[in-house]
Amino acid sequence: MSAPDEVDGARLAPQLIWDLPTRVFHWLLAACVLGAWLTAESERSRMLHVALGYSAGLLVAWRLVWGLLGSRYARFTDFVKSPAAALAYLRGYLPAAMRKGRPQTHYLGHNPAGGWAVLALLSAVSLAVVTGYVNYQDDSAEIWGELHELVGNGIMLLVGLHVAAVVATSVLHRENLVRAMVNGYKRARSGEGIPGAFTLLGLLLALAVLAFAWQVYTGKFPALTS
Ligand code: HEM
Ligand code: HEM
Repeated sequence: MSAPDEVDGARLAPQLIWDLPTRVFHWLLAACVLGAWLTAESERSRMLHVALGYSAGLLVAWRLVWGLLGSRYARFTDFVKSPAAALAYLRGYLPAAMRKGRPQTHYLGHNPAGGWAVLALLSAVSLAVVTGYVNYQDDSAEIWGELHELVGNGIMLLVGLHVAAVVATSVLHRENLVRAMVNGYKRARSGEGIPGAFTLLGLLLALAVLAFAWQVYTGKFPALTS
């Protein structure tokens, strides 16, 4: 999968696109959601399930703030586009796949369809946390358990679609999107990258989420777990 060296005569070179808080957010969210799903069934792993679930909730809350204050490509204004724009993007997708070419429009941040996937994933995780919280109360009606399980499984469906779309887009654009979510870099024109990675903030976010998960796990937040 080799990326082109030039687009419209402009030379491409690695530029920083995803700041560290966005990358930390992504991989910790993926770990918490997958972990919560894997620990969902057994009574014995319930505290771990709850700790991972609430940590996913904390990450989503953080992402809402970072979507307003973060660097260029992390901001909602960069990637939340109209449903019509998302459909137009998707319409270019299939013909491009069949011609084995690249879709005409390339986005350095999330593409307009991906933007809606981000909102769907954030909303679904929030719903799982709220229904999980209610379900965990002693006197909660059975329907909350059913609803929570439905949302939890719905998330995994969305994640499956998400990963498939990431792989397909990486192939179509000959660009490794997973690597970019790890190291932050994509090939772009000079001036298109962000000036800094917010490294300290990214490290603090990681520490805060790990500390929070541990505190919930060890019962230090009785308001959430009793
Ligand atoms: C439970 C699992 C996962 C969840 C909940 C999840 C959620 C998300 C969210 C919310 C974003 C938006 C990032 C942001 O702007 O903050 C995103 C982007 C992304 N995710 Fe995931 N993800 C999951 C698993 C994965 C996995 C396993 C991969 C690897 C194949 C992956 C690859 C990516 C990539 C490459 C992007 C950036 C897409 C782009 O370039 O527009 N994700 N994911
Ligand atoms: C990303 C977040 C979460 C996901 C993906 C998730 C997923 C699930 C799934 C799929 C089940 C059904 C297991 C089964 O019986 O087959 C479940 C059960 C459960 N979850 Fe979550 N969950 C999340 C967050 C939470 C949170 C924050 C809590 C809060 C306290 C919670 C509390 C529970 C409880 C108590 C059950 C047992 C339900 C019962 O057997 O009635 N979950 N979860």
